[in-house]
Amino acid sequence: MTKKYLISFYEILFTHMKNNLFRKKSIEQLLNEEKGRSNGLRKILSVRDLTFMGIAAVVGAGIFSTIGSAAYNGGPGISFLFIITAVTCGFSALCYAEFASRIPVSGSAYTYSYVAFGEIIAWIIGWALILEYAIGNIVVAISWSGYFNNLLVHVFNIHLPSWMLIDPLTAKNAFIESTSALASGAELTAKQIKNYEFAIQAYNTAPMIGDVKIFFNLPAFIIVALITWLAYIGIKESKKSANFMVIFKVAVIIFVIVAGAFFVDVNNWTPFLPNGFEGVLKGVSSVFYAYIGFDAISTMSEECKNPQRDMPRGMIYSLLICTGLYILIALTLTGIEHYSNFLNVNDPLAFVFEDRAPWIEKIVSISAVVATASVLLVFQIGQPRIWMSMSRDGLLPKQFQKIHPKYQTPSFATIVTGVIVGIGALFIESDLVTDLTSIGTLFAFILVSGGVLFLPPKIKEPGKFKLPYINGKFIVPILLAGFIYLFRTRIELAITEFSFSNHQEILFLVFLILAIVITVLTIIRNYSLIPIMGVLTCSYLMIEIPIVSWQWFLIWMALGLLIYFLYGYRNSKLNLENRI
Ligand code: ALA
Repeated sequence: MTKKYLISFYEILFTHMKNNLFRKKSIEQLLNEEKGRSNGLRKILSVRDLTFMGIAAVVGAGIFSTIGSAAYNGGPGISFLFIITAVTCGFSALCYAEFASRIPVSGSAYTYSYVAFGEIIAWIIGWALILEYAIGNIVVAISWSGYFNNLLVHVFNIHLPSWMLIDPLTAKNAFIESTSALASGAELTAKQIKNYEFAIQAYNTAPMIGDVKIFFNLPAFIIVALITWLAYIGIKESKKSANFMVIFKVAVIIFVIVAGAFFVDVNNWTPFLPNGFEGVLKGVSSVFYAYIGFDAISTMSEECKNPQRDMPRGMIYSLLICTGLYILIALTLTGIEHYSNFLNVNDPLAFVFEDRAPWIEKIVSISAVVATASVLLVFQIGQPRIWMSMSRDGLLPKQFQKIHPKYQTPSFATIVTGVIVGIGALFIESDLVTDLTSIGTLFAFILVSGGVLFLPPKIKEPGKFKLPYINGKFIVPILLAGFIYLFRTRIELAITEFSFSNHQEILFLVFLILAIVITVLTIIRNYSLIPIMGVLTCSYLMIEIPIVSWQWFLIWMALGLLIYFLYGYRNSKLNLENRI
């Protein structure tokens, strides 16, 4: 008897939870809510502004810093990776565009998932987007600090104490690595020696509290504070600054490509794939990181004059422009300098000109400071708007939706973003967060691409974007067969030498099974090609990211779910509406 009651209790609980966890918002509901909002944001952004905001968010730390190590591992062949990643992002961009043309409301992938999948997935995405925006901005702030210090030293001859330019973990690791490298007697380049001396000096001069040496990245904190202030005082001010920064950085990048062409030695392009395709794939995270950002403009729908027409265009134009620039930059860099010289190079664009044309190096350093500042700005604008949407839905406390009466920006959420990014930038190590950002963003891209499949059919309306339907039934199986053929050796090894301790290969096998299941579903249900390709290509890039970042990602997600069950589940507006 007790057992029977227990079973029905679980049945009721399960059905109740399932209905609530996946409660959805309809597109009409979202549009009505948007119409009914009186104290809205300022609608001033045009397609040009959006394209500029997109470029502002994309071109930054990725191309100015993190691709150095990708070039070292992959050689000139990383230009392939820029193409592959662009195509991958292109699929997702088209899916973002489809959502943006249907749902002109702030909140990006979070809002879209609320419509497509329901509340819990929307929350998960909102939580993952913190990795892209707030955590991602920590990397950008650290990169900004590196270039800024470069400028201070080389242009103004100002030397800040090194312990206030570095986070504690990097300082400790760099000290250990440096002392052993210098003691080993190995042949070192001048640049390596300079880096090692910097690390040792930082360690030896750091002040102490008790037994603990103090390190922090002060310039990174200061720039976050300044950018937060700009994001706080108004979208118009932010737009003007972003437009100026974009014109400057794109001009410098075009200049680097043109000037760099004179230094290219085509012999450096051979071998094109020195470490095979595997070497190229090591750069996935860095290269993907360089593309992150075009989606950030989807958080600004409510500040856009004609979001349904302009938002999709802005995203696609910015992605196309950045792709062109990136491919040319990758070829230029690896043509000027032999790939093997990019070991531990964190400022690749400046590095290639260091000895060849120091004046260009200075211009690049100035441009890097501007470029990374613009990324910071757009992400610092994006994060509060996602929180604002989550708060409107009751998943975060009410303060997050507060709009400043004078500046018309989400004031409280902007300040919280500033505090989180600022403190993170003071103390956190950059490498770990780059991968975490890439993984979180890929996850959002997968859900946005997959979400399109769950939208009701729509007739094309004049002036609005509509995702073209191409039946994936034939193309997806052919592509899967091609993938299996290309990766046959890896598949064979992953199966014949299967081991539970080889997590990366387990991820690869999971991807393979997922790809087969999705292909079968596509054949049966005639799924649209572009969203399916978005899901598959982003999943593939995701499994190439090192397992250590996956572990952090899972911990982050578990924390997010805990917060949802403690707060959002009960306070959700849909939950309260159902109760009335
Ligand atoms: N794509 C942005 C950058 O590279 C995040 O800085």
